Amino acid sequence: TGIQRSASFEAGFIARMKKAGRNIAILYGSQTGTAEEFAGRLAKDAQRYGMKALVLDPEEMNIDDLPQLTEIENSLVIFCMATYGEGDPTDNAQDFYDWLQQGETKLNGLRYAVFGLGNKTYEHYNLMGEYVDRRMAELGGDRVYTLGLGDDDTNIEEDFVTWKEGLWPVVCQKFGVEASVEDGSFRAYTYIKYDSDEIDPNTVYKGEVARLHSYKNQRPPYDAKNPYLSPVIVNKELHKGGDRSCMHIEFNITGSRMRYEAGDHVAVYPTNNVEMVEKIGKRLNLDLDTLFTLNNVDEDSSKRHPFPCPTTFRTALTHYLDISHPLRTNILHEFAEYCSDEKDKEFLNLLSSATPEGKKEYQHWVMDSRRHLLAILDEVPSCNPPIDHICELLPRLQARYYSIASSPKEHSNSIHICAVVVEYKTLDGRTNYGVATNWLKNKIPVPAEGVPQPTVPIYVRKSQFRLPFKVSHPVIMVGPGTGLAPFIGFIQDRAFHKRNGKDVGKTILYFGCRKQSEDFIYEELLEDWKKEGVLTELNLAFSRDSEKKVYVQNLIENNKQSVWDVIDNHGHIYVCGDARHMARDVHDAIVDIVCECGGKTHQQAVDFVKALMNKGRYSADVWS
Ligand code: FAD
Ligand code: 2AM
Repeated sequence: TGIQRSASFEAGFIARMKKAGRNIAILYGSQTGTAEEFAGRLAKDAQRYGMKALVLDPEEMNIDDLPQLTEIENSLVIFCMATYGEGDPTDNAQDFYDWLQQGETKLNGLRYAVFGLGNKTYEHYNLMGEYVDRRMAELGGDRVYTLGLGDDDTNIEEDFVTWKEGLWPVVCQKFGVEASVEDGSFRAYTYIKYDSDEIDPNTVYKGEVARLHSYKNQRPPYDAKNPYLSPVIVNKELHKGGDRSCMHIEFNITGSRMRYEAGDHVAVYPTNNVEMVEKIGKRLNLDLDTLFTLNNVDEDSSKRHPFPCPTTFRTALTHYLDISHPLRTNILHEFAEYCSDEKDKEFLNLLSSATPEGKKEYQHWVMDSRRHLLAILDEVPSCNPPIDHICELLPRLQARYYSIASSPKEHSNSIHICAVVVEYKTLDGRTNYGVATNWLKNKIPVPAEGVPQPTVPIYVRKSQFRLPFKVSHPVIMVGPGTGLAPFIGFIQDRAFHKRNGKDVGKTILYFGCRKQSEDFIYEELLEDWKKEGVLTELNLAFSRDSEKKVYVQNLIENNKQSVWDVIDNHGHIYVCGDARHMARDVHDAIVDIVCECGGKTHQQAVDFVKALMNKGRYSADVWS
């Protein structure tokens, strides 16, 4: 998110690199900020090795200039490429991906290295990283170091650190640079503190995503940089028992001109827990209302500030920074310098070291125990990093996505979601609370006319998850837990067509949850649709109601012929949910059915399902 462009931005990036004596371009394809963060860390590393890098958002550069990078001595391009959704490029890398695919440009001799960011619980693990690495070579590029693959399901931080530990010596050797690290902290931003009378209060950001006052003067079109403050009109509990909570929330979008389709996602910009912000302020002895700005030291960067500035520490910690995820090793490394007690310093240095003991301790103490900023500061009492440095180091707070659980055919003026409130005990006995869901939990509509309702900044993100073009084609929907969400929208769509006398194909649902009496969400609605005949089949797997676990894929296995009939009759299969490994298990069950009922070998069945996916007849919308 380039908030403000620096004056030199309009010049091509090659010219800018030449002018400032830079030899390394670092491109990121980032959806949730991690790839962007890693790109920034690689740039800092380059500086430590006495080289200069420029971090680039492919969306904000002229990619056609890339081959000219070879005009620079000792040049290199590093890609940090995340795979998103079902093996897709991230939004900001879409054009770059299309450009690579066209492959009209020759990249002869262009040195490159790729680090892919993915998640093993997903079917298309690190597809983008692999693709970019392979494609660059096909176009004539010179791979200087092996592809790195980060797995966010285990420890992507460790994967990244291990990869770059190997990368830099190779790069240094190639360029004849001495591979000795110049230690010490490099600040990427200059900190400027203001007295309250030094600044016009009208120029101070209060949590807007990008444009100043955008929350006061709302103007369509609404998108990631300009979300709509949508009133919450319904917020109710869906679980009937048990200790977890699942919310059904309805956002009013009347007058917003936002459009959506069943299957789309809605993005929500959450706010951090205010008590946690207060505690951080106390722990660091801060005046949270201090006005400040952080300006990029690198004037060539397209990113002037790390987040909208000027602002206050309170706003930064509440709206702009991720204060609740486990701290990464580079932050712990910088924090070590701010410990007055040698023991604390040693401990943080150990946690952030790339040694086997360091990695093990980091995994255990930080990752497995999910220790965030405050938890770490509380346990390392002599560590007192200055707040401006913390603000520079913490990643940006990200929007959360939710599958839309409504259809515009029934609800053109509202968007519905269902979300499980995240709350869990950590290994060290604390309770961690999910940022967005715990914030949404308190967005309760006021049951009176004319009073302002609580609002939530949202925008619609289009997806590929779509019902078949022909309503007469049959569908199988597999959605355990909150994976049911998009199918509520799908079924509303089908119900609408049925009511209008259309010939609607079979509409088959597989739903699973723990216990019928607790987390069977939308039970009445589904039963009614079954009675009306909108749902042809309602297959239910309650995993904790019987001795032996029953999952959706077990029911699918039991219904082989019915499933095959759908596949064989232009049918579409949809899988959605957050259950770990569920999508893969369902996929395997379908492959077995194709083998058995379609009379194919295992390999033929795998290829058959792949072809269905390519034709958009087998779609997954899975998150972890
Ligand atoms: P966060 O503050 O982001 O915390 C969540 C993190 O806490 C997890 O990533 C995990 O690292 C950690 N964590 C959680 N539980 C534990 C535990 N028991 N032990 C250790 N660590 C733990 N969610 C829905 O509820 N409904 C939907 O329809 C939905 N649709 C989605 C669609 C897409 C395309 C995507 C990408 C995600 C979707 N999600 C959905 C997930 C949603 O975006 C959020 O991730 C989720 O609501 C949690 O957000 P949070 O801010 O409350 O939690
Ligand atoms: P469990 O938690 O009892 O194991 C929604 O979360 C439902 O998905 C729950 O009933 C959960 O069961 C189930 N689930 C967990 N892992 C799964 C898997 N690999 N495949 C299908 N369903 C799964």
